Amino acid sequence: MVSWIVGSAIAIALYVLIYYNFLKGVPWRSDTSLKGKTVIVTGATTSLGKATALDFACRGARVILACRSKERAESAIFDIRKKSGNNQVIYMHLDLASLKSVRAFAETFLRSEPQLHLLINNAGTGSPGQTVDGFNIALGVNHLGHFLLTNLLLERLKQCAPSRIVVLSSLAYCLSRIDFSNLSITGGGLINEVQKYCLSKLCNILFARELANRLEGTNVTSYVVHPGFVFTDVFRDLGLLAKLVFGPIAFLFFQTPMDGVQTTIYCAVQEGIEKFSGRYFADCKVRKVFPHARDDAVAKKLWEVSERMVGLCRH
Ligand SMILES: NC(=O)c1ccc[n+]([C@@H]2O[C@H](COP(=O)([O-])OP(=O)(O)OC[C@H]3O[C@@H](n4cnc5c(N)ncnc54)[C@H](OP(=O)(O)O)[C@@H]3O)[C@@H](O)[C@H]2O)c1
Ligand SMILES: *[C@@H]1O[C@H](CO)[C@@H](O)[C@H](O)[C@H]1NC(C)=O
Ligand SMILES: *[C@@H]1O[C@H](CO)[C@@H](O)[C@H](O)[C@H]1NC(C)=O
Repeated sequence: MVSWIVGSAIAIALYVLIYYNFLKGVPWRSDTSLKGKTVIVTGATTSLGKATALDFACRGARVILACRSKERAESAIFDIRKKSGNNQVIYMHLDLASLKSVRAFAETFLRSEPQLHLLINNAGTGSPGQTVDGFNIALGVNHLGHFLLTNLLLERLKQCAPSRIVVLSSLAYCLSRIDFSNLSITGGGLINEVQKYCLSKLCNILFARELANRLEGTNVTSYVVHPGFVFTDVFRDLGLLAKLVFGPIAFLFFQTPMDGVQTTIYCAVQEGIEKFSGRYFADCKVRKVFPHARDDAVAKKLWEVSERMVGLCRH
């Protein structure tokens, strides 16, 4: 009995120590104001996107929640307005699983909003299935939808420079390699779904890199972020068994959304990081990625292939 209590006490103490020292993430705070700035956050109905939008609203920004569900977005907006006291938080419809919807969003946005200073490509999913345009969901939503969106908004970002693009990726990128003969990999099963997700996150890193190269000299910069492992809805579509295994681990060892957005906010507002445009950040620090994720030739090729896939190609 006594040894059981002592054992548990040690286990709990160890857990608290490990959690606060290694898992919770660095407490980074800044009071940079975003008054007069317009921000888009994609996928801001919940989790990281909602927490990011709330932070920007508290800084006084005009925040556009680009989401596919009006109902879910409006419930998020209600919370964000209440917590931030900022009423300039609005919904615009964007379904990243449809290139047509991406184009319609950009058109509406460009027509109704004169400015854009920050674009946060946050929406992300590991769901199975296909997009309207026939890509696997992870590639289509996480990479291609955002690729088209960013391209359509680029002129406005340039006009409003200095401005920034922050892309949410994941450390999971390192489990993936690019095979240009088969970007939109198919096939079901957990392994395949994870593979698709990891590949889309590698594409996010290469995209931010090539984007930075193309934006050199414009005062528009781009950053890519691993937010940490955060307890969110991201794996809501996993099967029951995977949930039973993954749930308790996530509950014990993952960060809260408020901790998980600090690196995104850092890349959005921290002064003086422009020289790191195109680079990968985690824990509010620039980090070196594995060679396959910093290959400029591959990044350039991915850009050209993506242009063709979304129908942006002029050649
Ligand atoms: N959580 C983590 O531990 C972790 C780790 C590494 C990287 N990340 C990255 O961080 C980002 C945010 O993750 P999260 O954990 O906050 O995810 P989440 O809880 O699953 O939220 C994802 C958001 O994306 C939206 N979304 C999904 N499909 C969409 C579509 N077709 N069109 C528009 N919006 C869509 C969802 O909207 P609905 O409400 O309509 O579903 C939701 O708002 C993702 O890019 C993810 O890859 C997360
Ligand atoms: C693409 O790769 C997946 C496995 O990752 C495979 O199941 C699928 O058949 C491949 N498709 C083509 C067209 O080669
Ligand atoms: C970029 O910003 C610098 C410093 O504010 C400014 O001198 C320069 O003219 C800007 N360049 C462009 C292309 O806007």
